Amino acid sequence: MNSILSDRILNMEESATLAMAKKARELKAQGIDIISLSLGEPDFKTPKHIQQAAKDAIDEGKYFAYPPVAGYQDLREAIAKKLREENNIAQAKAEHIVVSVGAKHSIANTFMCIINEGDEVVIFSPYWVSYAEIIKLCGGVPVLIEGTLENNFKATAAQLEAAITPKTKAVIYSSPCNPTGSVFSQQELEAIAGVVMKHPNMVVIADEIYELINFTGKNFSIASLPGMFERTVTVNGFSKGYAMTGWRVGYICAPLEIAKAVEKMQGQFTSGLTGIAQRAALAGIAGDQTPSKDMATEYLKRRDLVLGLLRDIPGIKTHVPEGAFYFFPDVTAFFGKSAHGHSVANADDLCLYLLAVANVSLVTGSAFGAPNCVRISYAASEAELIEAMKRIKKALGDLA
Ligand SMILES: Cc1ncc(COP(=O)(O)O)c(C=O)c1O
Repeated sequence: MNSILSDRILNMEESATLAMAKKARELKAQGIDIISLSLGEPDFKTPKHIQQAAKDAIDEGKYFAYPPVAGYQDLREAIAKKLREENNIAQAKAEHIVVSVGAKHSIANTFMCIINEGDEVVIFSPYWVSYAEIIKLCGGVPVLIEGTLENNFKATAAQLEAAITPKTKAVIYSSPCNPTGSVFSQQELEAIAGVVMKHPNMVVIADEIYELINFTGKNFSIASLPGMFERTVTVNGFSKGYAMTGWRVGYICAPLEIAKAVEKMQGQFTSGLTGIAQRAALAGIAGDQTPSKDMATEYLKRRDLVLGLLRDIPGIKTHVPEGAFYFFPDVTAFFGKSAHGHSVANADDLCLYLLAVANVSLVTGSAFGAPNCVRISYAASEAELIEAMKRIKKALGDLA
């Protein structure tokens, strides 16, 4: 019998990060002491003043009705103000902002609104797992341009230029990047913008969700460059920088035509984001930024800790991530080896081996377009990170 399910969903890959997290949870439930370094999730609690704003919003009793589809006006204004003042996106106004159910939803909305069947979208690779699947769902064709460990996993403007065809509709990257932690410099973004400006029918989707976890001390938004506001959808959200993954707040800042289209799309699919979560987000963006800064300082300490421990593991090759909370080491040195009844032919096998033998969950690089690597999230306590690295070192040392 043919499946009742659509080709659309049958052709979609499951999210590898969520799949690995599920496996780790199942083993934990069996009483196995798993250290989970597979999810892109802060281990901090949402700052207190943001929690309080949500409680106040409930007590006020004003936010229980359907919210405006694109978000409450005051939240959109606060986001636009932040983008003008902190990201130098001078043209940003409330009308360019659409608030959605997480940045994932913002990205899905955007692609739904710009991609026609067969349109190509260039992805800077390694890339966040969901980009390619969302593009395919919308009938688009992902075209990967690959960065390598040697250039900090940053594909170049020249590679972008070479990948563009008459069918190219958009290009997408994240900076700071998930999975590599790499950050594009202003110069690199200027070069990318230079290519985009030569092709009037394409837009940039700049995923800046890790903006507040950037150790270079400099955030640069491509939409701030001359001529680029009209050509850029800036994506951001509260999950990472404000430790608000479960609140599901994301947004875009887009040229009016795209913002209006996204509002229309959202009006048919989900309507506006939960009112209480929007009030919490407003307290986040307009309130005290100290908790976010403190979290970033803590991530930097952990990066340095894990960097030292990884450099002490023979066979691991890593660059130094400048943001987000991931390492993305090359692990090819372990391919073709075996131990404890496991053979390791690739990064998928290595992750299964480390889960079974070291009881540490990582995510295979193949999920991010880089089959020679694994992703290690260091959004975990120092004690867990030290123990996890010890176990990984031992298990990798056993492979022969
Ligand atoms: C690069 C990137 N973009 C977007 C998202 C989605 O974030 P949200 O929780 O806002 O949907 C994530 C989450 O892992 C991410 O890593």
